[in-house]
Amino acid sequence: MADIAGLRARGSAFWTQAAPGWIRHADRQDDLGHPLGAVALTRLNPRPGEHVLDVGCGCGGTTAELAAAVGPTGAVLGVDLAESMVAAASTRFPPDHHPVLRFAAADVETVEDLPGAPFDAAYSRMALMLLADPVAGCANIRRMLRPGGRLAATVFRDGRANSWLPLAVLGAAPHVAALPPLPVGDEPGPFAFADPARVGRILTASGFDAVVVEPHDVVMAVPDEPDTVAEWLIEIGPAGAAYRAAPPPQQAAARVATAGLLARFRQPQSGYRLPAGLWLITATAP
Ligand SMILES: C[S@@+](CC[C@H](N)C(=O)[O-])C[C@H]1O[C@@H](n2cnc3c(N)ncnc32)[C@H](O)[C@@H]1O
Repeated sequence: MADIAGLRARGSAFWTQAAPGWIRHADRQDDLGHPLGAVALTRLNPRPGEHVLDVGCGCGGTTAELAAAVGPTGAVLGVDLAESMVAAASTRFPPDHHPVLRFAAADVETVEDLPGAPFDAAYSRMALMLLADPVAGCANIRRMLRPGGRLAATVFRDGRANSWLPLAVLGAAPHVAALPPLPVGDEPGPFAFADPARVGRILTASGFDAVVVEPHDVVMAVPDEPDTVAEWLIEIGPAGAAYRAAPPPQQAAARVATAGLLARFRQPQSGYRLPAGLWLITATAP
């Protein structure tokens, strides 16, 4: 396994190259990805007037949901490693239309201060398992919370509970150029938080109290558009950059292969049903 500095550099490079796909599909991600974070939003229960941090906010869709919950007297800050995603979030939700909403480009593991801290609550959808040093990252999130501040986050469980997830990279890889390094073991990646005991140890070592890690199953309902669905999943994953750089015939072959692998999740005319197995993580700052 690479050292922490190497993993951080790898994460930064990965999210810089993945960002164009996330930006291109931001509306789709907000819509179809909603079930992946809804339970954490409900459990966090952000209240009018609260200050909330959205960790790994991507293109800002969840940050905007949090802003709607805290209302005009609250404040929400979305933080993400990828500068271009933060820029896209600020364009999608401009300050003159969303006065309680702000975005900042920062590595949540190492950032020393964030505007609006200390926060009443922190939320994260599908980002904590991507931290190079998860104890450092979660300790920094805890440090940004006021005493008694709440954390609610979702992460993927293991590959068995999310069997559709590797199919885009498997479908695209034979048709595009070399991919970035894929995670092994506990390295940052979609399944790095698969072991709930490890997740509990990370949160406890980060200084959180009342740590609870519970399973939650959802189904993403996706329209019956095989070519579009294949491109969305390729572009937000590890094959995204190589796919964008490939000539059109190779891109088409990558989409066809991915759509073929995803066919088992398709109900013709009705659409795709992608089952996602999550951990809902809740904790409190002492
Ligand atoms: C899987 S995406 C999820 C984005 C968004 N939360 C969503 O659900 O649509 C993970 C996000 O976490 C961000 N990220 C990864 N490591 C990070 C870090 N150390 N600090 C801040 N953001 C990070 C990535 O740039 C990426 O936008």
